[in-house]
Amino acid sequence: MNVIEISGLRKSYSVGFFKKTEKVALKGLSLEVREGEVFGYLGPNGAGKTTTLKLLMGLMFPTGGSAKILGLDIDHPRVRTSVGFLPEQPYFYDYLTASELLEYYAQLSGVPAKERSPRVKKMLGRVGLSDVANTQLRKFSKGMLQRAGIAQAIIHDPKIVFLDEPMSGLDPIGRREVRDLIEELHDEGKTIFFSTHILTDAETLCDRVAVLNKGELRGVGVVADLLSSRGATVEIVWRGTSAIASVETLGGKCHVAAEIVRAVLEKSNLDAAIDAVRRAKAELISVTPVQATLEDFFLERIAQPSETTVPAELSI
Ligand SMILES: Nc1ncnc2c1ncn2[C@@H]1O[C@H](COP(=O)(O)OP(=O)(O)OP(=O)(O)O)[C@@H](O)[C@H]1O
Ligand SMILES: [Mg+2]
Repeated sequence: MNVIEISGLRKSYSVGFFKKTEKVALKGLSLEVREGEVFGYLGPNGAGKTTTLKLLMGLMFPTGGSAKILGLDIDHPRVRTSVGFLPEQPYFYDYLTASELLEYYAQLSGVPAKERSPRVKKMLGRVGLSDVANTQLRKFSKGMLQRAGIAQAIIHDPKIVFLDEPMSGLDPIGRREVRDLIEELHDEGKTIFFSTHILTDAETLCDRVAVLNKGELRGVGVVADLLSSRGATVEIVWRGTSAIASVETLGGKCHVAAEIVRAVLEKSNLDAAIDAVRRAKAELISVTPVQATLEDFFLERIAQPSETTVPAELSI
């Protein structure tokens, strides 16, 4: 079942003071997200990720198109109670303590009064902030603030959690903690839609990803398929330069450092390349499959000229 359905969503901003011009930030986005999946929304700076999230959260109005969350139009009041949102740069009133902040958000999102206090306690434990429950947010590190931000996004137990760059600015430990939290939410059956340009995080976490560039969707892919379908190349390493010419005729791209040669080539040509190395009496050192990464997919999609944009579900 699709829990998010975006259809031809457009947004343009009016920029300039005396001479207004129109800046198109989102050019007719159509996208679907299924129940229970972790969906990564990827794109370089200025791609339109935050714009999309703000539109979905009803924080700004679209110039065109529409979107539904859980089958309801995004401006339907019932949508708000089913979604949680971590903004890109959350701003919280500095003089509140962590538990006051969560009390406030619990109240805003309609958590009944008698449930609030235990819920806040549980949530602080969950994001690892129990020890600093009564500390003012101005004393929090960036990572702690991010965890408080995630806690406010899930305090009302939403079905869908939207996170705008949840790992940005965090150190490796902080990133790991946020990743673990996303995985836990996934295990509970929640749908997670998060934007990022940290591709390794998307690779570990996401069921599917979409790539956006300059307001246009460039492709949607199932991460597992993407990585396995691209594992068709191998790296072969040997000592001695005599086999280079024959490996190059097999399509191998050779890099030489001192006596060591590394070549990357199609897996189907591997046997012939090993034969060539042996015939040249060179010493074979290693053969390793080249693991495809999400980065390959990302860069390939971003590099395409916009007129060749692939339809959303045609993907990989
Ligand atoms: N309020 C605004 N007024 C004018 N232009 C805007 C406004 N907000 C965003 N834009 C423009 O819209 C485009 C998309 O911006 P958006 O913030 O959605 O990108 P993003 O993908 O979230 O980027 P980042 O990775 O840097 O967060 C950018 O070119 C940006 O300059
Ligand atoms: Mg952004």
